[in-house]
Amino acid sequence: MDRPAAPQAAPAPPPARPEVECLQAYSAPLEGRRGLLRLDFNENTVGPSPRVVQAIRAIPAEHIAIYPEYEGLQAAVAAALMRTSGAAAAGPGLEPHHIGLFNGVDAALHAVFQAYGAPGDRLLTTSPTFGYYSPCARMQGMAIEAIPYRHTDFAFPFDAIRAALTGPAPPRLLLICNPNNPTGTRLAPERILELAAASPATLVVVDELYEAFSGDSVLPLLLAGAGVAGTRAPGADAFAAYPNLLVLRSLAKTAGLAGLRIGFAIGHPAVVDRVGRVTGPYDINSFAVTAAFAALDDQAYVDAFVAEVLAAKALLQQRLTTAGWRHQGEGGNYLLLWPRARGAAAVEQRLRDAGILVRSMAGKPLIDGSLRVSIGTRAQMEQFWSAWQQADS
Ligand SMILES: Cc1ncc(COP(=O)(O)O)c(C=O)c1O
Repeated sequence: MDRPAAPQAAPAPPPARPEVECLQAYSAPLEGRRGLLRLDFNENTVGPSPRVVQAIRAIPAEHIAIYPEYEGLQAAVAAALMRTSGAAAAGPGLEPHHIGLFNGVDAALHAVFQAYGAPGDRLLTTSPTFGYYSPCARMQGMAIEAIPYRHTDFAFPFDAIRAALTGPAPPRLLLICNPNNPTGTRLAPERILELAAASPATLVVVDELYEAFSGDSVLPLLLAGAGVAGTRAPGADAFAAYPNLLVLRSLAKTAGLAGLRIGFAIGHPAVVDRVGRVTGPYDINSFAVTAAFAALDDQAYVDAFVAEVLAAKALLQQRLTTAGWRHQGEGGNYLLLWPRARGAAAVEQRLRDAGILVRSMAGKPLIDGSLRVSIGTRAQMEQFWSAWQQADS
């Protein structure tokens, strides 16, 4: 008679790379948000242009069965950026090879780190800032140096960043979010060019996701041929003097395409090429492509939404100041608010009970105890203002 087999330990699944074993999945509280006033992710609160919706509805069913086609999209992005950057007809232009297409700026960031970040390399950035930079660095095994914004006015730590850039071992990557999410800190684009010129070996990535709300972009300077390294020969590439500068833009927030995922990296063709090498051939889906063409063609819609948000933001800031609530946020479609009558968690819950979502900044350096509130239309912010006064009483 056969002996029963000795019990064996179940085989363990193979481990991932050491960097991945130490990583926690980047998770944002994104479920169950429909039907509420969503002031928690800095999204467009009214949706995309009707022309975008119309274009998506017109997609024939057979197109869903075909791999996406990207022909013409980089040229359309370049033309739209030239228009919004006030590019002079005689100045250097943006061309398709300056534009990388990505499945959202998140995917662009991921690709930048994959292409440029090797184990042991250093990421230089600020703190607190957008939460996806650090996990991207960690998954590559990079070291992170995060320099805090100035306490208590959140000014950009320019001198410290410059010193860290120009020290004996320049960082591989510098990530600047301008305006910064979540502090709203603005940095003059001229200063970013100064930093890029100070450390040619560092890839300086400027995340301009919220640029439309402040107007601070390096692109108009590059397209005007300006900047501290301004030695460019006539007719030279727009990035000739700053080949180590990469700008990120998205249609997620202002154009309201967050659910479709489409973002861009704009830079020297050689850098755009390298970052594009680590993405899959069809990472952006056909719906996003169709929507992007339509959105880029309706700048008036975006401009009107931005104007509405800025008006609503100014009104809310004025009310908060008059009523004596601490608040912060120069650039961007968001403000940090510090509750005073209750803890932030209690106020967040009371707002949720009133049907309004905001984002807790619990545990973040310098801003622990605050709530980040995205700005929508004036009518939406009226609703927020009355709920806020009750929630923090
Ligand atoms: C500063 C910043 N960068 C990038 C992203 C991601 O943008 P996208 O939706 O295009 O991936 C966000 C989204 O919140 C953000 O706040």
